[in-house]
Amino acid sequence: MSFNFDERVERNHTDSEKWLKYRDQDIIPLWVADTDFRVAPAIQHALLARVEQGIFGYADDQGALPNTTVQWVEKQYHWAINPDWVIPLSGIKPLFSLLQECLLSRDQGSVCHTPIYPPFTQSATHAHRSQRLIPYPLFDDADFLSIPLPALTTRERLLFICNPHNPGGRSYSREALQRLADYAEHYDLWVCSDEIHADLLLDPEHAHTPFASLSPSCAQRSITLLSAAKAFNLAGLGCAVAIIPNNALRERVRHAVAQRMAAPNSLGIVATLAAWQQSEDWLIAQRHYLRTNRNHLVESLQHLPALRMTVPDAGFLAWIDASGLQQVDPHRWLELHGLGLTSGAAFGDPQAVRLNFGCCRALLDQALTRLTHAVTQA
Ligand SMILES: Cc1ncc(COP(=O)(O)O)c(C=O)c1O
Repeated sequence: MSFNFDERVERNHTDSEKWLKYRDQDIIPLWVADTDFRVAPAIQHALLARVEQGIFGYADDQGALPNTTVQWVEKQYHWAINPDWVIPLSGIKPLFSLLQECLLSRDQGSVCHTPIYPPFTQSATHAHRSQRLIPYPLFDDADFLSIPLPALTTRERLLFICNPHNPGGRSYSREALQRLADYAEHYDLWVCSDEIHADLLLDPEHAHTPFASLSPSCAQRSITLLSAAKAFNLAGLGCAVAIIPNNALRERVRHAVAQRMAAPNSLGIVATLAAWQQSEDWLIAQRHYLRTNRNHLVESLQHLPALRMTVPDAGFLAWIDASGLQQVDPHRWLELHGLGLTSGAAFGDPQAVRLNFGCCRALLDQALTRLTHAVTQA
């Protein structure tokens, strides 16, 4: 079956956060992390059938989400897990502060890379826990293996990993993960590995490695967060999972989740099941499309030395060092040239911007033409 990712789906008059922001302006929205692609046909059919019932009471999926998670991670990442390890969630973001509150005492803290998807760092403030930031080299093609990992005190007890990395659009190699595993072992850290972008490795020769799958000892200290939201464009439907092999750890987290979070949305469960059970061919086609979009972006930036980027190999986000533009606020400057990217400020680098290339090629190419024009005229 073929899928048409070139279709320009009109989102201007919908509830799309991405498109509403610039509704009345000639600014191409390439910011918040969802794509402009219509979901896989199997997902749409499953949702239509569920909506047709017209009743949306409390749901019991009879273990369908945990069982489907088991099958998906086995097939995609060759990781054998037990359905009992899976905790259904209504989203991933709330877990960041919830984990700090339920696993760390007030005087303990976490470790996290920077730049990073802002909720990782914001969550420490909300949880009133300390957080130590480790620079992650994104612009130098620098090998993650060579960056120093700082000595920790007994205060730091939780390591956050974002793999693949947002905003970098980079997946961690097995060696890089092993290095983090050794670090976590040395300092006896819990490890929360957010793998929401795991199904979007763009190059077919690369496969995602879950941190927890490295060894039994990694599994025992890990909380893996997964969902179909990014790869299948379901971010508005409120469904995700945590996979926690360690029984005692899982019960602590399960208890906190039950107290503090809503159950997954029943339409989100329906959509996730249709994604993971029936939509792999759509996902493969989408990866191919995103790969070509990524290549268009790389090709354009090669002609613009004022912008530096490490080639993204996962997801649909590209992190661009715009300091060469010599603008106080490169994000605002790009808006004035008709491009709505995400400012790097909240991620930890105000001279960077994040570009979302998860859109139809015609729109991306229009944006790249604007970008080229703006930068070469500057
Ligand atoms: C790394 C990462 N984690 C979590 C989320 C949000 O997940 P959720 O919508 O399930 O809270 C995002 C969304 O951009 C993300 O990029």
